[in-house]
Amino acid sequence: MSSSPTLPPQASPPEFAVTATRPHALAGVDVIALPVLQGDDAAAPVLGPGADELEELLGVDLLAVLEGDRATGKVGELTVLPTPLGAPDNADLRQVLLVGLGSAGADDFRRAGATLAKAVLDRDAVATTITAVDPEVGLQQFVVGMSLGAFSFVLKKEPAGPAPAARVVLGGMADGDRAALERAVAIAGASWRARTLAWVPSNLKSPAWLAEQATALGSEAGLDVTVWDEQKLAREGFGGVLAVGRASPTPPRLIRLDYRPSRRSRRTKPVVLVGKGITFDTGGLSIKPGEAMVNMKRDMTGGAVVMSVMAALAAVGCPVPVVGLVPAAENSIGGDAMRPGDVVRHYGGRTTEVTNTDAEGRLVLADAMAWAVAHLDPAVVVDVATLTGAIKVALGQQVGGVFANDDALADALLTSGTATGEPLWRFPLASVYEDRLSSRVADADNAGSGPGAIIAALFLQHFAGDVPWAHLDLASTGDAPADSYELAKGPTGFGARLLLDWLGSPEPLAGVRAS
Ligand code: BES
Ligand code: MN
Ligand code: ZN
Repeated sequence: MSSSPTLPPQASPPEFAVTATRPHALAGVDVIALPVLQGDDAAAPVLGPGADELEELLGVDLLAVLEGDRATGKVGELTVLPTPLGAPDNADLRQVLLVGLGSAGADDFRRAGATLAKAVLDRDAVATTITAVDPEVGLQQFVVGMSLGAFSFVLKKEPAGPAPAARVVLGGMADGDRAALERAVAIAGASWRARTLAWVPSNLKSPAWLAEQATALGSEAGLDVTVWDEQKLAREGFGGVLAVGRASPTPPRLIRLDYRPSRRSRRTKPVVLVGKGITFDTGGLSIKPGEAMVNMKRDMTGGAVVMSVMAALAAVGCPVPVVGLVPAAENSIGGDAMRPGDVVRHYGGRTTEVTNTDAEGRLVLADAMAWAVAHLDPAVVVDVATLTGAIKVALGQQVGGVFANDDALADALLTSGTATGEPLWRFPLASVYEDRLSSRVADADNAGSGPGAIIAALFLQHFAGDVPWAHLDLASTGDAPADSYELAKGPTGFGARLLLDWLGSPEPLAGVRAS
């Protein structure tokens, strides 16, 4: 019998609905949450929609309740008004929550959602008018916050602790908000899924397991899924993926997922997403010290993001075909491990001298990118990877790095990152450092000295050919150092929201150079 735990069912995000009705008039809800906006300067806080009706119904002065709590309306604030006897038309009502919404900006909605999520664990039904304050700015952000704020991943013997609220009703909304809600739920769900995959421990999460997850989510979302096993990878010349995965008892895979939009000519070139799928990174023979290895189960975050995004493309109405590729391997140690000094031959023939086996991500990405450029005629390639410690030194843990050989593509990703609370900063593909890649024996060295994140990006650029390409180095944001609003300490699944915002926009390729 295997000692690996199997993955027990995990909690899922709440179900959301929109209605024109305001919360006071909804039967069967156990919590009503109303927004509180921060007053200007020292002015008193302002109650949002639905407050008047509720005050009348309950016979309370909610502003006085806020005042009694010294509440100001700032984000993160929560005032609890117990209603143990229920309300006249709703015997189930147990609490009214007054939730700080600050100045009702996009980040405020997301954070108010996360604050509320943690306050209503285990509740059956929560009704709120928070999104009615500004559906345009707030709906998606609130749904993302309210979903991810209650995220958990547990493998305990006893049944897991508190679960997210089962149902959330967004009151005071218009019928037209229903489509936006569907989009928001898809984005939040993809982020949740990417995070779950990244949390799964590596004694369970082999490359083959990841491929099984891809097959399952593919059939659920109507995507074609193809998986290369180690024999097929060998026959076709994927030298980087094979070298990285060679010492692991769980052999490598290459996973392909295909999305086709319902209305578009079959000839439109695809967007190709490539996600780093290292299911555990020991560093290989250039082994990492113990502390640096602790978080390396989530070195497949890029792959998890690509898989989760693929599954949500239809729901966000992505207008272009998209192919997702996840080269998956465990970077392990053993007698047959890839050695420093080994030369690997990538798909298509380019060679790399491996001077550091811990620079493994670029070796697997290179194969997948080369294959995509040779076979898919991509409109753009975007790779997503927890690639370098250097990006974390440069940006800290709250901003991701983006490199691109096309300005419109970079701008689109930067804009989506800001809009979704997954901010990026653009770094240069500085050709002055190109000489650092040189090797005496091979076409490149995998770990040239110099500015680490830039050197890694320059290495990858050779595999993008002439195709417009962006590289997301998310080693900085793949892990949250502490609980904070929608982030729980640990793997974040960062990248899913921004990619879905971009690919769900009306013209994701607007302004991008023709390939
Ligand atoms: N998976 C790591 C990058 C990483 C570091 C992710 C910290 C998350 C947190 C990657 O494979 C790696 O080890 N990169 C090396 C490259 C170096 C040997 C050129 C690094 O950044 O130290
Ligand atoms: Mn590594
Ligand atoms: Zn790695």
